[in-house]
Amino acid sequence: ADGKATLEAIGQYWASLEQAPVRPEVEPGAIDRSMPREAPEHAMAFPEALKLITSLVEPGLVGWQSPRWHAFWPANGGPASLFGDMLSAGYGQQGMLWATSPACTEVEARVVDWLRILLGLPDRFSIDGPGGGVIQDSASSATLLGMLAARERAGEGSVREDGVGGQQWVSYVSDLAHSSFERAAMIAGLGRRSVRKVPTNAQLGLDSNILQQMIQEDRAKGYKPFFIGATIGTTACGSADDLSAIGPIAEKEKLWLHVDAAMNGAAALCPEYRSMHHGVEFADSWCFNPHKWLPVHFDCDVFWVANRNDLISAMSVNPEYLRNDATEEGGVIDYRDWQVPLGRRFRALKLWLTLYTEGADHLRATIRKHISMSQSLAEQLRGLNIDVLEPQTFGLVAFAAQDDIATEQLQRRINRSRKTWLTHAEIQGRRWIRVAVGAWRTEANHMETLYEDISEALKNGE
Ligand SMILES: Cc1ncc(COP(=O)(O)O)c(C=O)c1O
Repeated sequence: ADGKATLEAIGQYWASLEQAPVRPEVEPGAIDRSMPREAPEHAMAFPEALKLITSLVEPGLVGWQSPRWHAFWPANGGPASLFGDMLSAGYGQQGMLWATSPACTEVEARVVDWLRILLGLPDRFSIDGPGGGVIQDSASSATLLGMLAARERAGEGSVREDGVGGQQWVSYVSDLAHSSFERAAMIAGLGRRSVRKVPTNAQLGLDSNILQQMIQEDRAKGYKPFFIGATIGTTACGSADDLSAIGPIAEKEKLWLHVDAAMNGAAALCPEYRSMHHGVEFADSWCFNPHKWLPVHFDCDVFWVANRNDLISAMSVNPEYLRNDATEEGGVIDYRDWQVPLGRRFRALKLWLTLYTEGADHLRATIRKHISMSQSLAEQLRGLNIDVLEPQTFGLVAFAAQDDIATEQLQRRINRSRKTWLTHAEIQGRRWIRVAVGAWRTEANHMETLYEDISEALKNGE
């Protein structure tokens, strides 16, 4: 009965999303003030506790699941994914080693290989060869792991034993790449300044000619280039780096090429969007977030490597207490060596259930619907007195008024009603308002209302 009541509470929350404001009206500290200063000493009956917790948190929830969600990026999660997470918690598996949960390990390895095939990614990332895929908590972790594996390979095995030494390691990303690259370098002890920002070109992708020059200049200074991070779907505007131009440079210069396709990788489910894969044969690692565009709850990033030994040699240590026959005999995957934490839960269940109950055909249809809705919005916005960013990409539309101040004021007017939430980005020195289209509940009528709200806000500023 307690479980049923919890599911009913979730159902009621979902049903309220159509009408609810996207942003709550809460003052900082208000939720905290309504909580006691200490944990309860005595047990409370579950129904009462459920009532208490839902009334405490729901006024402070943000509409990430709303059909009018257009801020940042989508964070979808359908019922199948929810039930998968429930199974995961219920089974309570800890899949750090094959031996500690053969089901957790083998289902994950196969499910992510299904996804690899669905996305049209090359065989070199297959678990049936020297590569393979693994579920991470986030794209940030995947970037960190790509960088650590790259560093290990470039250091020929010395870094894991002796650390980074006195060399000046450098890596390259575009000036629109996600901040997780800088954080990865900070965590890896290389320093944030070791991440070189390569300017973007007219297509808002990394300029490969400048990349080549920067590598040469760094080598001439005695620095140690070791890593390139390419992006498919920048956070700011969804633009993509051209792997077919960057890949040959990575190969020639012997640099690891990691592809962060956190948001737009999901579009590769549709064969017509696979031009993003031109040059992917040069990539050493590639990741995307089902927890963004697919209806799979956070946390779920899938990270593939072309040679799993590069990753394992960067990450593995073998304390006596984890030794077991299956590992010693070889032939099994111990996913603890593919990630930062030791422990891991059965996240493949939510992916498995989502893939089975949606079907690849429905996932593709929804992605196509989102892309078509964002193209229609861009078309409508082009008819207004604003600039629409080109190239417009997949599920992202960006627009701006005549100058940054007017753009900020327009954004405030759109957001004032709390019916939706549009965030902004700086792209090549100019402020743009972004519309992320990819929430699973969004339909054409919501997009129409959004367009009306934008044009109304524009009129009110004239
Ligand atoms: C392009 C890109 N990379 C990485 C990330 C970070 O994702 P995560 O929250 O999974 O670390 C984001 C946004 O969240 C993103 O847009």
